[in-house]
Amino acid sequence: MGIGEDGPASAREAPEAVVSEAQIAVHWREEDYYQPPASFIAQANAADPAIRQRFGEEHFPDCFKEYADLLTWDQSWDTTLDTSDPPFWKWFVGGRLNASFNCIDRHLESSRNKAALIWVPEPEDEETKEVTYQDLYRRVNEFAALLRDFGGVKTGDRVTFHLPMLPELPVSMLACARLGVIHSEVFGGFSGAACGERAADSQSRILVTMDAYYRNGELIDHKAKADEAVEKAREEGQEVEKVLVWRRHPGEYGSQSPMVDGRDFFVDELLEVYRDKVVEPVSMPAEAPLFLMYTSGTTGRPKGCQHSTGGYLAYVAGTSKYYQDIHPEDTYWCFADIGWITGHSYIVYGPLALGTTSVMYEGVPTYPDAGRPWRIAERLGVNIFHTAPTTIRMLRKLGPEEPKKYDYHFKHMTTVGEPIEPDVWRWYYEVVGKGEAAVVDTWWQTENGGFLGSTLPALEPMKPGSCGPGVLGIYPVIYDEDGNVVKAGSGRAGNICIRNPWPGIFQTIWGQPERFVEIYYEKYCRNKESKDWRDWPYFAGDGAVQAADGYFRILGRVDDVINVAGHRLGTKELESASITVEEIAEAAAVPVMDEVRGRAVEMYVSLKPGLSPSKEIEQKVAKAIETEIGKIARPKRIWIVPDMPKTRSGKIMRRVIAGISNFADVGDVTTLANPEIVDDIRHLVQSEKVAQGDVPRELTKQEQEEIAAFGRAE
Ligand code: WTA
Repeated sequence: MGIGEDGPASAREAPEAVVSEAQIAVHWREEDYYQPPASFIAQANAADPAIRQRFGEEHFPDCFKEYADLLTWDQSWDTTLDTSDPPFWKWFVGGRLNASFNCIDRHLESSRNKAALIWVPEPEDEETKEVTYQDLYRRVNEFAALLRDFGGVKTGDRVTFHLPMLPELPVSMLACARLGVIHSEVFGGFSGAACGERAADSQSRILVTMDAYYRNGELIDHKAKADEAVEKAREEGQEVEKVLVWRRHPGEYGSQSPMVDGRDFFVDELLEVYRDKVVEPVSMPAEAPLFLMYTSGTTGRPKGCQHSTGGYLAYVAGTSKYYQDIHPEDTYWCFADIGWITGHSYIVYGPLALGTTSVMYEGVPTYPDAGRPWRIAERLGVNIFHTAPTTIRMLRKLGPEEPKKYDYHFKHMTTVGEPIEPDVWRWYYEVVGKGEAAVVDTWWQTENGGFLGSTLPALEPMKPGSCGPGVLGIYPVIYDEDGNVVKAGSGRAGNICIRNPWPGIFQTIWGQPERFVEIYYEKYCRNKESKDWRDWPYFAGDGAVQAADGYFRILGRVDDVINVAGHRLGTKELESASITVEEIAEAAAVPVMDEVRGRAVEMYVSLKPGLSPSKEIEQKVAKAIETEIGKIARPKRIWIVPDMPKTRSGKIMRRVIAGISNFADVGDVTTLANPEIVDDIRHLVQSEKVAQGDVPRELTKQEQEEIAAFGRAE
């Protein structure tokens, strides 16, 4: 989208002069607003505009008492925000609470027999299971007793999970929370090696896994990955002493992998001893860590984002109430995997803290056909629906007319995880939502605990492709590379930052506090000696532009992270996995535009001297990535090239190859040490893509800018 006749005044006035890379001029057509339906407004949790004032900067940080008051505290806090050791902020200091108590016990009196979770198995002929708050209470207590007495874990220990989408996952999380044990769930689709690396990083002695689960009609053998994980952890110096294996069908083992004597145990068998055991919830300081969630960053080693108990739980409860509009009587379905932060915050902790019914689904959206989600919504009476653009695109592609066939009605819908194209947004609103729902586009990150940017669903109109303003109590700003504020309506993009701390922000990177400061705070810190939070803006690592109305449009990562189907994959991780193949000398990962997954990965590799390209080597690279990271990271293409374009100091210029893969401008190559290689690579890659009919559509201006900026963090 260039500057058109219909462009907004601000975009037309944007400077045409060449600007620095961080100040890329961005121009697009302003989208029209959509107003929330009157029926939604009439019942919304946040319907009084005064809420904006209550969370205004003049009331910070005390405004967050409103969120903390949604919880039951064993002891209330004396300091709302302690800034004595920046940027290691402490929230609700002096307060004590237990997360499991808040998500379960306190609802028993009023809602004992109400479904806390409704679990939908992937096979359509298998029965849906309801887990009432009473069932959840019993199961969490029993597993907590097992973890404590058989597992020998104590408050503050870490336990790694590698669990798929079954109720045993929230049960395991809440059992740890009950004991004050820190859980670290690794997404079930990740490889055994990725799980082992994370178990080692968090020094876990216990791994909780499952024998098997259904995905796309197939019973996947999952326990096999536990053996790889234990092996990998051992290589990294961490002994996993016990592997606790839940069985998808208790009593029946669905894996081919042998149980290792003295190390592997079936949870359903062990539980016999713990029937009806009750474990007192351990009263934890607000600042005690609740869980770790690993994510990708600019270097190979994954970052264990450490989230707190009090601040985190208050933040997800508050945002679930006002932004997800959850009432206790709703049937809420967040169609994400609990293995990602979205599932932790908005399938488990937020909804259960509010005492609602949270739906979870085991399998893929389009199994056995693209009508599946809408059948589930109809049958269960789901009225709040939450998913990611990649799922929306896939459902639109495979079943554009399907939603109309089913009688469900959503009052509220969410999109999260990556930028959504206005066109896809409109299909979501009109066809999935039948024009009846308020839609929120929520921008945030693993590091943040909960939403950062979104409209308040009853109070602020929606604008396709924009997440909206900062959420309650979040004051964002866009800075250029030199720390100057990029003004709203200037039509210029920059780095989006949050000026203030908030209760959901992660506390540190597990075991790497220096990296925490360096990655998120160093860039825009005004004074390292200062104990004033105003001197410590949080650098989110996303490019963004702010329209004159204050709404933000997120443009994607500014670091070397590729967002595939809403999942952050670090280029360094992909590259180090490729280099484990002995034939490979160098590797570079770049994003290509993909109609369904948003972005896909293409790998460029060069071979050691004397070797020649072969399909076999390509397959080895694909396999290595699958083993080290997981299927989700499998590259769309692998190109074996004679050499990589490099700077004179020897750095691979990813933006050049990204330009080639996307048939876009490669930018200035005159400063390369080997400019002649660019044409060779272009010829190799593009002629094959043309021959295979794999030429992407022309990129929008915004996409061209993303590609041109790729890899600039180097
Ligand atoms: C991107 C997922 C545009 C962004 C909750 C961010 C988004 C990264 C949106 C975090 C959105 C997330 N619009 N981009 N609504 N939501 N992103 O850690 O680049 O898996 O930095 O957290 O996803 O991904 P993560």
